[in-house]
Amino acid sequence: MLPLNSLKIVLSFLLVIGSPVFSIPLNTQKTVVSLSARFKAAGVTNIVAGDRARAQALHQAAKTGKHYANASITNVAPIGYTIQVGIGNPMKHYGLLVDTASGNTWIGADQDYTITSTSTGTGNTVSVSYGSSNFSGKEYLDTITLSSLSISNQSIGVAKAYQGFRGVDGVFGIGPVSLTKGTVSNTDTVPTIMDNLFNQEFTRSEILGVYFVPVSEKVATGTLTFGGWNSSLMTSDITYTPITTASPACNYWGIDQSITYGDATILSSAAGIVDTATVLILIATDAFNTYKTATGATLDETTGLLKITSDQYSSLKPLTFTIGGTAFTLTPNAQIWPRSMNSVIGDTSGNSDNIYLIVADIGSETFGFVSGYTFLERFYSIFDTTNKRVGFATTAYTKSTSN
Ligand SMILES: *[C@@H]1O[C@H](CO)[C@@H](O)[C@H](O)[C@H]1NC(C)=O
Ligand SMILES: *[C@@H]1O[C@H](CO)[C@@H](O)[C@H](O)[C@H]1NC(C)=O
Ligand SMILES: *[C@@H]1O[C@H](CO)[C@@H](O)[C@H](O)[C@H]1NC(C)=O
Ligand SMILES: *[C@@H]1O[C@H](CO)[C@@H](O)[C@H](O)[C@H]1NC(C)=O
Repeated sequence: MLPLNSLKIVLSFLLVIGSPVFSIPLNTQKTVVSLSARFKAAGVTNIVAGDRARAQALHQAAKTGKHYANASITNVAPIGYTIQVGIGNPMKHYGLLVDTASGNTWIGADQDYTITSTSTGTGNTVSVSYGSSNFSGKEYLDTITLSSLSISNQSIGVAKAYQGFRGVDGVFGIGPVSLTKGTVSNTDTVPTIMDNLFNQEFTRSEILGVYFVPVSEKVATGTLTFGGWNSSLMTSDITYTPITTASPACNYWGIDQSITYGDATILSSAAGIVDTATVLILIATDAFNTYKTATGATLDETTGLLKITSDQYSSLKPLTFTIGGTAFTLTPNAQIWPRSMNSVIGDTSGNSDNIYLIVADIGSETFGFVSGYTFLERFYSIFDTTNKRVGFATTAYTKSTSN
């Protein structure tokens, strides 16, 4: 029998190995592929309506198993982070929207799919709805190249019809594999890119590190790290929180968090999701109304966003998200839309005194919140399928003044 003391030693050894700070094996060249993600703005769009429709669609799909689309939302184009991937042999490059809330990867929007020697038609059809956008087409197997790694036999959709995608070639779906259920005919679920990276032994853990650099001059970039994360980009330890047990958020990268504005709690612990393809931070209506009153903001009809005066901006208080016991705080500057990009949200006046907040009302019958990329631009995030948890850490951009 093992004496108690040696058990203790074994345990602390394991803890050190498991601790992010010392997890060098994950960050070796062999297992980590870093790819740059670029920000893409596809012209004027109603972000609030688009984000809200998406939140409702994701909620409905997970709750009922049925895909839902709000037909009254039109002219919504994605703005967000895209990643360049190579497909086929000879390889052709496609710029795909980075989406942690769907599992299907597909191409054929702006750029058509080119059949090459590695393309195999499966004979199956595919269809996915995202709320304000959707696509349908045929499912293929092909080789996808991420930086120096080539994943063979990756299931991809090839769009025949799509709506609401402009300025991107398709979607890079890195959400849980269960989200692909029912999307491809004659198939239960289709392995995601994350699954295949792991199954084909390119990564030792099914972990994705996301680093988005705040959008300022329409040229923001970031990196996705597969199989690990890059601790050089962090300025704090990582706080992990388990995937929430609350349904339907538990079907996504869902977490529990509470939100305070200044000293006042505006949202007590609630379940919601973290989503790279949502722009804003959507919060429950009551919480939103409290925030609106506390900031003195007014709802702007053109953009659908809350608008504040310069004076109100000067007196904005910190907006704090408590996740896994750690406070992640958005400074006043992190709570506003980048003023140099007001035209993207529909304010073409060129007046940089027009200040919009990135917190919006999520509407009814949906999650407690959706934290989109305006949140993720301020914190490094880790999507850990292996350990069923999400991690966050501060970065050089957490408190930067870029907006
Ligand atoms: C669809 O979107 C419109 C416009 O935002 C909204 O008024 C309506 O409530 C939405 N419908 C549903 C069923 O969510
Ligand atoms: C996409 O949405 C539009 C508008 O709601 C709808 O007419 C169309 O049938 C949908 N297409 C697919 C492939 O789901
Ligand atoms: C290729 O992928 C398909 C579907 O994802 C799977 O059914 C098939 O077994 C895979 N083939 C190989 C050789 O891995
Ligand atoms: C991690 O980030 C640092 C700082 O930007 C960079 O120099 C380094 O190359 C990155 N490491 C990997 C493996 O991408």
